[in-house]
Amino acid sequence: MRKPFVAGNWKMHGSKAFVTELNQGLKQQTNSMTEIDIAVCPPALYISQTIAELEGSTVKVGAQNIAEEASQGAFTGEISIAMLKDMQCDYVILGHSERRAIYGETDEQIANKVALALEAGITPIFCVGETLEERESGTMESVIAMQLDAVISKVGVEEFEKIVIAYEPVWAIGTGVTASPEQAQEVHAFIRDKLARLNRAVAEKVIIQYGGSVKPNNAAELFAQADIDGGLIGGASLNADDFAAICQAAQDVASA
Ligand code: 13P
Repeated sequence: MRKPFVAGNWKMHGSKAFVTELNQGLKQQTNSMTEIDIAVCPPALYISQTIAELEGSTVKVGAQNIAEEASQGAFTGEISIAMLKDMQCDYVILGHSERRAIYGETDEQIANKVALALEAGITPIFCVGETLEERESGTMESVIAMQLDAVISKVGVEEFEKIVIAYEPVWAIGTGVTASPEQAQEVHAFIRDKLARLNRAVAEKVIIQYGGSVKPNNAAELFAQADIDGGLIGGASLNADDFAAICQAAQDVASA
């Protein structure tokens, strides 16, 4: 049995006051959810505040990106995996489609970052997903396979036991248009099957989250799919009630 994992990607949102209020709400509402793993990924500046405010709760904290350099050096504006480790972060989101599309991150760079996170013992939340154009032109599977292959060839399939995969169709991110449970399940099964061809035991264990317009009203149906093991939540993770309701949907599936 895989333990569902729900993570919030706050993206570039927040202020000191907003973060405190959100964390207080999360702490109160998630304490009884013992059947699932939960994390939030604030902007880097709010990571230490969030770790302090969530102390004593079950909610873990992650970052949204790291530099390609492991420790320190003359890389103005960058944050290293060693620094996240120092802050006691548990997760880091890597390869988000916004970083691929807006900042031009390549499969190779993302694979390097996944390797750095694994070396540091921080769990990568490795994002894959197709654009609408790729889906409609029939290249969806080859695009996702390429994104996966970059990491498989860098770190080896066995390491996927320590990697969380997030399937995020680009066309569903922030659009309010979620993939249907069937559409999402189809891709999740494709990803798990691809890994299973290399290592069945690892494929059975790997957590594959769905991300893209997950809301309290569609979470239960998505999480009920056989190969969907929770979600990576953007907009709805900025509201404690909504995020807690999504976590509850995962908790209900896990305890059913
Ligand atoms: P939304 O939930 O806002 O669609 O964002 C999804 C996402 O990109 C999470 O990483």
